[in-house]
Amino acid sequence: MKLNTLALVHEVLARHVQPGAFCIDATAGKGRDTALLCRLAGPEGTVLSFDIQSDAVRQTRELLTQEDLSARVYQESHVNMGNFAKENSVDAIVFNFGRLPGGDPHIFTHAETSIAAINAGLALLKPGGLMAIALYYGKENGYAERDAILTHVRTLDDRAFSVLSCDWANRKNDPPLPLFIWKG
Ligand SMILES: C[S@@+](CC[C@H](N)C(=O)[O-])C[C@H]1O[C@@H](n2cnc3c(N)ncnc32)[C@H](O)[C@@H]1O
Repeated sequence: MKLNTLALVHEVLARHVQPGAFCIDATAGKGRDTALLCRLAGPEGTVLSFDIQSDAVRQTRELLTQEDLSARVYQESHVNMGNFAKENSVDAIVFNFGRLPGGDPHIFTHAETSIAAINAGLALLKPGGLMAIALYYGKENGYAERDAILTHVRTLDDRAFSVLSCDWANRKNDPPLPLFIWKG
């Protein structure tokens, strides 16, 4: 395994997501996480994927077609994911907070909607379900979203959730942070 946040998140997801799983990619972007979830959940599984940018929705659909995979890809804010799944029904939810690589630098995730979406996603997770987050920050995004999310997850009830917040202690240049939340 490469020693970076994306590889670590993918490794944890690969151990968690079983064939037939119900998964959500809350920030579709270029579709790489959506494609991974489709491969892990297999043809019996269900994957929903959300992004507010039409370009991200297009790229995600193109990648799925290229790889002969299938997911329901919506141009929709992740804040509204509760309209698409029942509470306590989802095995895994992935977020990559930040901005679309190579896309419009003015469109990126923001603390207020990101925290609302985390809460919406936690309600949808089934007991034993996993939320895996790659938290990009710095540059256009700044640091407010990172700080607000890290503060928020520390307040989650430890009887309901286990939160593992990781840091690359000696890496420079704002490396993305891996963050994992298990329900129950
Ligand atoms: C870091 S990128 C995601 C990368 C993606 N996971 C991949 O594998 O390529 C973050 C994405 O979040 C999207 N985004 C920003 N705000 C959003 C919102 N409220 N709901 C859903 N997606 C949002 C952006 O448009 C961008 O494509």
